[in-house]
Amino acid sequence: MSESLNTDFDSISSSAKSLLLTKALTTIPFAKEAAGLLWGENSIEDLRERLSSIGFLLRLIHFEKRYRSVDIAIKNLGIKNILEFSSGLSFRGLSMCRDSEICYIDTDLPQIIEIKQLVVCELIKNFCNYPVDNLFLKPLDVFDENRFTEYINHFPNGPIIIVNEGLLVYFDEEQKRKLCQIIHNLLKEKGGYWITSDIYIKNEKKEVIMNGFYEERGEIFLTEHHVEENKFDSFKIAEDFFKNCGFDIHMKIDLPTSELSSRKLLVNNIPSNKLRELKNRKKIRETWILKPKV
Ligand SMILES: C[S@@+](CC[C@H](N)C(=O)[O-])C[C@H]1O[C@@H](n2cnc3c(N)ncnc32)[C@H](O)[C@@H]1O
Repeated sequence: MSESLNTDFDSISSSAKSLLLTKALTTIPFAKEAAGLLWGENSIEDLRERLSSIGFLLRLIHFEKRYRSVDIAIKNLGIKNILEFSSGLSFRGLSMCRDSEICYIDTDLPQIIEIKQLVVCELIKNFCNYPVDNLFLKPLDVFDENRFTEYINHFPNGPIIIVNEGLLVYFDEEQKRKLCQIIHNLLKEKGGYWITSDIYIKNEKKEVIMNGFYEERGEIFLTEHHVEENKFDSFKIAEDFFKNCGFDIHMKIDLPTSELSSRKLLVNNIPSNKLRELKNRKKIRETWILKPKV
């Protein structure tokens, strides 16, 4: 692996950093390589110490499942025009562009995209053996409807997929409604689907088994951003919310833990009686494919 990028990346939020480092322990494309470039190989090795914590292993499973469920949803739809918003330090676009028929617009806030551009450049140089002129990195605040429309109009003709992972929990109900309205307008015009992995359900009872899922800094970040309050009260309420915003649920994606690379780490590090206990935990998140009602 090449040396770390010789730049100051302190401006990357601690949540984006810990998310990428977590994914670096899985086989999610480019996660290990990007974390290595940004913070050096040792940062990943240091993280391995946390593998004895069940909470941390559940974190790995949670975020790998969230990532892969979006991939499955995209594959399922078979549509080649894809815009991802709030993609952060996730490199799905770079990975999917291996398919030359795909046109992928990868977006986040300007300050993140600026950093991401440097990282993606290095990843391409060091780890990509295919052309990626079908990948476009663009700054986008999701509430900027004009810019959103401008990007969508860049796609070749045909239906589109708008996709996101890990953003709705930062928005209150009014913001979520506004975003739904923007996406609804875009999809009505172009045709296509919205894949969101952010159907999170409130889980106010703090389980001991989850200790280690977040670091202390992460817990503070979630409290400051009202993440628990912003989640839906139930899957039924989430369904009603999206229906009320003009969407039908086209499909819910269910991905067994057995298909995750991090499953091996779970099995290797946890006694079987604990594993059985984990199987009975209630679901706290789902990935849905939404389609504007006709
Ligand atoms: C928790 S991170 C998730 C990143 C990535 N999707 C992942 O799962 O690894 C949330 C991302 O949302 C972005 N974000 C926050 N507010 C946004 C907004 N108004 N418009 C677009 N992106 C936003 C942040 O910059 C950050 O990258």
